[in-house]
Amino acid sequence: MRTDYCGNINASHIGQTVTLCGWVNRRRDLGGVIFIDLRDREGIVQVVYDPDLAELFNTASSLRSEFCVQIEGLVRGRPQGQVNKDMGTGEIEILGKGLTILNKAAVLPLDSNQENSEEQRLKYRYLDLRRPLMSDRLKFRAKVTSAVRSYLEGDGFLDIETPILTKATPEGARDYLVPSRTHKGKFFALPQSPQLFKQLLMMSGMDRYYQIVKCFRDEDLRADRQPEFTQIDIETTFLSAEQVMEITEGMIRNLFMKMLDVDLGVFPQMTYADAMRRFGSDKPDLRNPLELVDVADILKDVEFKVFSGPANDAKGRVAVIRVPGGASMTRKQIDEYTKFVGIYGAKGLAWMKVNDIDAGVDGLQSPILKFLGEDVAKQVLTRVAAQSGDILLFGADNATVVTEALGALRLKVGEDLDLLQGQWKPLWVIDFPMFEEFDGQFHALHHPFTAPRDMTADELAADPANALSNAYDMVLNGCELGGGSVRIHDQEMQAKVFNILGISDEEAQVKFGFLLEALKFGAPPHAGLAFGLDRLVMLMTGATSIRDVMAFPKTTTAACPLTDAPGFANDEQLKELSIKTQIAQDKASSSE
Ligand code: AMO
Ligand code: AMP
Repeated sequence: MRTDYCGNINASHIGQTVTLCGWVNRRRDLGGVIFIDLRDREGIVQVVYDPDLAELFNTASSLRSEFCVQIEGLVRGRPQGQVNKDMGTGEIEILGKGLTILNKAAVLPLDSNQENSEEQRLKYRYLDLRRPLMSDRLKFRAKVTSAVRSYLEGDGFLDIETPILTKATPEGARDYLVPSRTHKGKFFALPQSPQLFKQLLMMSGMDRYYQIVKCFRDEDLRADRQPEFTQIDIETTFLSAEQVMEITEGMIRNLFMKMLDVDLGVFPQMTYADAMRRFGSDKPDLRNPLELVDVADILKDVEFKVFSGPANDAKGRVAVIRVPGGASMTRKQIDEYTKFVGIYGAKGLAWMKVNDIDAGVDGLQSPILKFLGEDVAKQVLTRVAAQSGDILLFGADNATVVTEALGALRLKVGEDLDLLQGQWKPLWVIDFPMFEEFDGQFHALHHPFTAPRDMTADELAADPANALSNAYDMVLNGCELGGGSVRIHDQEMQAKVFNILGISDEEAQVKFGFLLEALKFGAPPHAGLAFGLDRLVMLMTGATSIRDVMAFPKTTTAACPLTDAPGFANDEQLKELSIKTQIAQDKASSSE
């Protein structure tokens, strides 16, 4: 039906007759001449209809936005002064010689010039995706997956599919369950990741596996979380953590070079402990120059109990953020930040403005100065290398509250005061603890198949709280892009970890018996990692939500306004599945 894409026509086509198909982006009547901006996936081209061909001109006059048409015409250079440098096709236009309306369009429920609500955009997603911004993102995403495939396949990775109807994989979220008709009362779980299958593939000797694969997690949604999302999932045999990091870092570096012409350089590595201490986060945004500086040792003996209490408590923390230029903050702003840290449990936000660093205490302004005294204040100023114009923001409480509150405050203040530097700041976070302890129970920080670092099973059991795992996360601009680990390939170690996690032998058998059994038959050392493809594409395209780089995402309440999913099942379906719901059945039947 066509000779080329609209967006591909350029000066090299001048003098040629072309046939194009697409949608009317805009129609303008200008002094008896009709201009049609014709749009397809590749771009927009201008088509001109002169009145001397009356029938054609009349058809062109009848065109409305989003009509689907086929045009034929002669490519010609635009007259001097009418060249449009902002348009890929801006040097040329097409003199229309033919026009067929392939389909009319009703007035769209989305206005391309107005901000549409997200709900409306998702309901009419196929129309929203007609916007060049959106289609460009999907095109970009397709190029990313293609580049990933060619990089990994060039490095010996095999693309192997794993089941979607399967058993629970513990990645920390709730499972999506699918009832089985043939096994009454039983359910499949959709995979939270292919974690166990990719490990089994290493035990099969597949050596290097990858898959660009859907994962399903029923968790609270945010801008960078969807209930169904895509991983670039990777697993390798006989490679160390360092080697897996080298391959996957190489892949991301290659991708940025190929797609964005950006050299990310060698990624720095930071331990989890340092990341939490300096940035209050296990995914620090290194574009933000603000850091948390510990000052408990200086404040141990002050009379101000708010500080000396946590400073003398082994579980406490007292830390300061020095904000350059922050001395101009108003009282109202400080009050807002105090409220903000309250969300994280902080009971206050002490502050000190450094109006003139050379003027001693006279150059300082702070409600807590009188509690600290001159000497202590000076030590704090020296510790943070304070300068005139700074504000120091203090957190004092148990370590978790201070770390979380100041970690979040650091991000907020950095953004509010426009302090971010540099465009791309990748890093690896390593040396995570094996477990985190809450509600009197150990929980795996990664997943329960992660190997500890340099430890026997007995050593691990003796001091689980201080064990480090052989896990690594790749972080870019404060976003966790991917994570992985060396896996346990020893049955005794795996049983020990389940044990520490409070999973009984029986429960381990029921849930992961197949894995424990597989570990008996010469399971090789293996390690891997998974990237969030949606997050990667979001960052690379500058989108602010992963929804904007997915063709058909869900709302923040995990629904699809386009198809109206999830829906009720009818009585027949429920009966076949031996399921009774507690929701009134009349609702279910009325949705039929
Ligand atoms: P993890 O749970 O860290 O590891 O997931 C890997 C990466 O997947 C992305 N991601 C998400 N993206 C969008 N929406 C979500 N709900 C979501 N959850 C996770 C993140 C994350 O870094 N099996 C392990 C990997 C391994 O050990 O090899 C796993 O799934 O970018
Ligand atoms: P107060 O004596 O309670 O009025 O507190 C004096 C200053 O210390 C105020 O600026 C409070 O916001 C601040 N403050 C109180 N509790 C904390 C805390 N846990 N961490 C940091 N600052 C605090």
